[in-house]
Amino acid sequence: MSQNPYLSGNFAPVEKEITATDLSVTGSIPRELSGRLLRIGPNPVAADPDNHHWFLGNGMVHGLRLRDGRAEWYRNRFVRDDEVTEHMGWPPVAGPKREDQLGAGVANTNVIGHAGKTYAIVEAGSMPVELDYELETVARSDFEGTLPGGFTAHPKRDPDTGEIHAAVYSPAWEHIQYVVLGVDGRIRKHVDVPVSGRPMVHDCSITKNYFILLDLPVVLDGAVLEEGFRLPYRWHPEYGARVGLLPRDGDASDVIWSEVDPCYVFHPMNSYEDSDGRVVLDVIRHPKMFASDHRGPGEGPPTFDRWIVDPKGGPVKEERIDDRGQEFPRHDERLVGKPYRYGYTTGLAEGFAFGGLFKYDLREGTADVHSEGSSRSFMEPVFVPRSDDAAEDDGYVMVYVHDASTNKADVVILHAQDFTAGPVATIHLPQRVPFGFHGNWVPDAS
Ligand SMILES: [Fe+2]
Repeated sequence: MSQNPYLSGNFAPVEKEITATDLSVTGSIPRELSGRLLRIGPNPVAADPDNHHWFLGNGMVHGLRLRDGRAEWYRNRFVRDDEVTEHMGWPPVAGPKREDQLGAGVANTNVIGHAGKTYAIVEAGSMPVELDYELETVARSDFEGTLPGGFTAHPKRDPDTGEIHAAVYSPAWEHIQYVVLGVDGRIRKHVDVPVSGRPMVHDCSITKNYFILLDLPVVLDGAVLEEGFRLPYRWHPEYGARVGLLPRDGDASDVIWSEVDPCYVFHPMNSYEDSDGRVVLDVIRHPKMFASDHRGPGEGPPTFDRWIVDPKGGPVKEERIDDRGQEFPRHDERLVGKPYRYGYTTGLAEGFAFGGLFKYDLREGTADVHSEGSSRSFMEPVFVPRSDDAAEDDGYVMVYVHDASTNKADVVILHAQDFTAGPVATIHLPQRVPFGFHGNWVPDAS
């Protein structure tokens, strides 16, 4: 077995693309769920165990298609990049490329539906890759020539407009770029915000009036490559840490910066403005990142924290919501940028070991746990409302699960409002789905 933990167990890649139809189901799939539950992660074709970094493996997308209470298909497909096509002997992928991309055009971090298309997306310079409905690679995309740089793995869709807001960075830039992707699938605006180094910027957040930038001390450091590793970013606490509020209709000179204790945040859960105009930003906080482990996020489990950012100035006020290890925060995305009450996360133990799920009631200050025993590891929970006008939390939490006893995956559907009860449905997949990053429910109507 490889000594690299990100090539071992259920982090290891699967070799084949498969398609399976009419999957077996325990329980009943809610008939209102018509669409695809998509998920993506690294699935390297030629990793070197000595220096493989989890974040850099070639992308593979997994999809489960539901309709009329049936699980019609599961399929997994490589997101084709230059390394995958060469390794497999497949034809090259068309579409634009950038010189400053990290890696070989890999798109492995998130998969979204937007403007009637499906995209595999990633940060740090590589282009989005358009996929067809059945997850075959179509081409790299720069949104019809409108994307000024690379893109991000974490776009935020404003529920009032349908537009996507995102923070883009590049190893070649000393700025963070705010971009707005219109409902027509074209970038309509970008603002370059100067910063004092080249930070890794994994995610962002929005409120009614602000776009929120995270300028945190994981920064470009070429010496990491000289040490034999592949992801040239390292923990540099002396860089400092700050949160920026960019008025959504403002420019770079309008950003309000607030200092915060050095830490790293891959993922906010959500953010909003309170009745005093302060920004409430809920985050998964890592005390440090890429300080000692240069193969993955192996600096110990993070916590769930609430940050209060005052546009009038002063440092960020920090509160701990839960000190239990967790990641992959999600919520009801009809409330992106707005006051919200409920959130869902994946429990994490030492070694980035996936566990059960948490559900938070942030108004009551309570948390529920859904676990199905130590052999079943839950990945990122995705909330799907029962109908467009259902109340917050009135819907389903859908999640891919690895079962160590069978070494296969299931998709579990929970009633969000009855979180600790058994699943509404468990859909049994014919192979395992490696631990990866993110995914989304893409309803057929979108
Ligand atoms: Fe992420």
